[in-house]
Amino acid sequence: MTVAPILSVSGIAIDYELSSGGLFRKRRTVNAVSDVSFDIAPGETLGLVGESGSGKTTVGRAVLRRIPTVAGRIVFDGHEITDLKGEALRRLRSRMQIVLQDPYTSLNPRMTVMDIVAEPFLVHGLAASVDDARALVLDLLDRVGLPRDAAERYPHSFSGGQRQRIGIARALALKPALIVADEPVSALDVSVRAQVVNLMQDLQRDLGISYLFIAHDLAVVRHISHRVAIMYAGSIVEIGAREAIYSRPIHPYTEALLSAVPIADPKLQRARRRIVRPGEAVDIADPPSGCRFHPRCPLATDRCKQEAPHLTRKAEGHFAACWNRDA
Ligand SMILES: Nc1ncnc2c1ncn2[C@@H]1O[C@H](COP(=O)(O)OP(=O)(O)O)[C@@H](O)[C@H]1O
Ligand code: SF4
Ligand SMILES: [Mg+2]
Repeated sequence: MTVAPILSVSGIAIDYELSSGGLFRKRRTVNAVSDVSFDIAPGETLGLVGESGSGKTTVGRAVLRRIPTVAGRIVFDGHEITDLKGEALRRLRSRMQIVLQDPYTSLNPRMTVMDIVAEPFLVHGLAASVDDARALVLDLLDRVGLPRDAAERYPHSFSGGQRQRIGIARALALKPALIVADEPVSALDVSVRAQVVNLMQDLQRDLGISYLFIAHDLAVVRHISHRVAIMYAGSIVEIGAREAIYSRPIHPYTEALLSAVPIADPKLQRARRRIVRPGEAVDIADPPSGCRFHPRCPLATDRCKQEAPHLTRKAEGHFAACWNRDA
């Protein structure tokens, strides 16, 4: 990438501590994410896809420094933030925002939209007066396509799509350079999804925001992303330009994900062979040896059971972690 990335993540790992019940509580550390690396350029969207439990939310939260990493580095806008604390972290973090799947749970039901969206301005001292804050909020409501009278209403009086617009307006208040959008349209009706995704694209074009766009819906990710990363059991198994991922997938898991996407032509749909053996999602407390995908992989060999493959370059800008597949 020729431009300096806005976000550069290299080799991060995240552990969770689990405590088992019983009289003698034992603490156990499980490794939820390991060796995850990616860059995001200014104004770029990286889609992060993978089945439930693969570690997408964990990566998003680590990027925002909401949970600690046990290895690796996170560099945001040229500053290493991996171990940053206090005021310096607070200042940088205001330029990274999050949009969640269900804005209803993150929007205080007792606050009007005006108060919800004005809060970041007031907390960070960015509005000179209450009138100033009101004007900024009304501008943001215009930007996200909400009527001005929305300001005096409470979250419950809006539809899901409108609530997501409120969540986005709030995220925009501090002029972020990066938004981590964690399944932002997964809870919305299909008809509303495209509207919210289009809004996010318009905002990116006008404001130059970068997105880490987390989703399990491959069609939505294809629409919004410039590049796509595929996660499986805590690691990125493939990453590349959108078209390369969708038309020339390398990793057997990516292929499996794509083959599960319904296609309009029933003949084509039937012609697709079932690539991956059905199986349970990986238990990260007791992961398979070697390549974590091997119990479900039709191409697995003995080596796969013993040695974990690392992400390696298979074509220009296209990386995959697989012993037996090349571009
Ligand atoms: N607070 C937590 N404590 C212990 N384990 C967790 C916690 N949060 C997530 N996990 C585990 O970490 C793994 C990754 O979870 P998550 O990042 O939420 O995945 P995704 O967003 O891809 O569904 C899962 O196995 C999940 O059970
Ligand atoms: S390394 Fe082996 S088990 Fe893993 S995806 Fe490649 S072929 Fe399958
Ligand atoms: Mg998640």
